[in-house]
Amino acid sequence: MKNLPLLFCGIFFALAFSFTGLILSSNIQLGSLTQTTEMQDENGNNMEGETLYPLTAPGLAQQGKQVYIEMGCIYCHTQQVRRAGFGADVERNWGPRASVARDYILQDRVLLGTMRTGPDLMHVGGRPLNKDWHHLHLYNPQITSPGSTMAPFAFLYETREIDGAPSANALKFPPNSEYSPEAGYEVVPTRRADALVEYMLSLKLDYSLPEAPIAE
Ligand code: HEC
Repeated sequence: MKNLPLLFCGIFFALAFSFTGLILSSNIQLGSLTQTTEMQDENGNNMEGETLYPLTAPGLAQQGKQVYIEMGCIYCHTQQVRRAGFGADVERNWGPRASVARDYILQDRVLLGTMRTGPDLMHVGGRPLNKDWHHLHLYNPQITSPGSTMAPFAFLYETREIDGAPSANALKFPPNSEYSPEAGYEVVPTRRADALVEYMLSLKLDYSLPEAPIAE
């Protein structure tokens, strides 16, 4: 046991090195990032009165993010647009620019994902897909995207008898769809489905940052 002090020194330096390398250096690089305006003045400060980005997600979208986590959407979808040279993400129209660290600073749980069975969703709210499309797609992806390998999330919807007039939020199936409910019935989103779609629509990468401007 005469080498005990040496052993302790070794352990101390191993931990100190990894703490400095992994935690301290990333905190120095990224820890001070704040929201910014799209354009800076000549001193590099934010422009007065302009919108700060990234935006905070509205309340319902934040509940939707929780549903996204619970449903395991992350197993098939990423939320990171890679820069040119690291994949064809921008060419695929997954976003108008690459995503950078600052895009994620307001998120307590960052859902980067690793698997791309489906398209990247970082900018899905900027695509021409509206609420009705998202609900039909979540209820059963075959309605909007025949042949899709995405799982249906029909259990986030309620099929019920039409009481008087059809509800305003009932799903709008295409005419003669084999997935529409029986005559006299309608499919309505639960609160969780509404929140999830609100979250999808809130995901946008349509703003410039000083380190990641959107090319004209
Ligand atoms: C088994 C893998 C899988 C899972 C799990 C999955 N998806 Fe998908 N998703 C796909 C595939 C494949 C596509 C492409 C075909 C299509 O549009 O259905 C897709 C497409 C999408 C699209 C359309 C994107 C676009 O740009 O066209 C959205 C939105 C979407 N998924 C949301 C979700 C949400 C929300 C969840 C969780 C509730 C989820 N997905 C779970 C595989 C998956």
